[in-house]
Amino acid sequence: MSINNIIVFTNQKGGVGKTTSALNIAAMLALHHKVLLIDLDPQGNATTGSGIEKNTISQSIYDVLLNNADINHTIIPIEKCGYDLLPSNRNLAGAEIELVDAPKREYKLKNSLMNIVNQYDYIIIDCPPSLSLLTLNALCAANKFIVPIQCEYYALEGLADLLSTVSLVQKSINPTLELLGLIRTMFDKRNNLAVEVSNELIKHFGDKLFKTCIPRNIRLAEAPSYGLPAVLLDKDASGSMAYKKLANEIRKKIGNT
Ligand SMILES: Nc1ncnc2c1ncn2[C@@H]1O[C@H](COP(=O)(O)OP(=O)(O)O)[C@@H](O)[C@H]1O
Ligand SMILES: [Mg+2]
Repeated sequence: MSINNIIVFTNQKGGVGKTTSALNIAAMLALHHKVLLIDLDPQGNATTGSGIEKNTISQSIYDVLLNNADINHTIIPIEKCGYDLLPSNRNLAGAEIELVDAPKREYKLKNSLMNIVNQYDYIIIDCPPSLSLLTLNALCAANKFIVPIQCEYYALEGLADLLSTVSLVQKSINPTLELLGLIRTMFDKRNNLAVEVSNELIKHFGDKLFKTCIPRNIRLAEAPSYGLPAVLLDKDASGSMAYKKLANEIRKKIGNT
């Protein structure tokens, strides 16, 4: 039976660990479930990180969103990662502009997924670092979102903008969208500022903050150059073990252990 959890990893800040989290959580969930990973960032990092050379693919999510390409012919099964991938590359950068005049422009992704949603237990969407039309499409298609946060001074400021955008989306186009949780990424418990920001997050978000913190770990940063999520490349690395724990926390929170 399909569970149909569509989870967006989003934060308009770049370099906070969206792609690293999406890749590693997708790979962990794929050990037990049928998973689709959607790369919604023109930078194509989730595509490269899954071992796909982004400039050689014949069609990408751009063609699905704007050229009516068949999504089934665009999805690539990534055997060594265990999940399917809807890849992206820099063609997607044009989508932002082309979508502006498109009818029902916020619903493009949701409509594209309509025919395949039932094939998957989890659909994971990796967002670009912006509150753009692409991110809006992800928030409209999803029922849950996760916010990776680097515990540093400006982290909370960006968060307020993100949450007010989400609240607009909830009120206008997608009332079923809910915050699954916030992840503390690249966490260094010896750094006083990181601990302070983390305490602020605990105070403001309580149960909505995932208990598992992702430590700063070089293996997480190296893995993309091998075209494999770190949890598959080196499962004993501290970062991999943290993502394994986090994946279990996510499954429990969703009520599917
Ligand atoms: N926990 C971590 N420890 C060390 N490096 C990390 C960690 N998480 C991410 N990185 C690295 O930091 C950079 C930004 O992470 P990334 O996941 O690409 O962020 P985003 O998708 O939000 O832009 C990448 O080079 C990535 O490999
Ligand atoms: Mg990214």
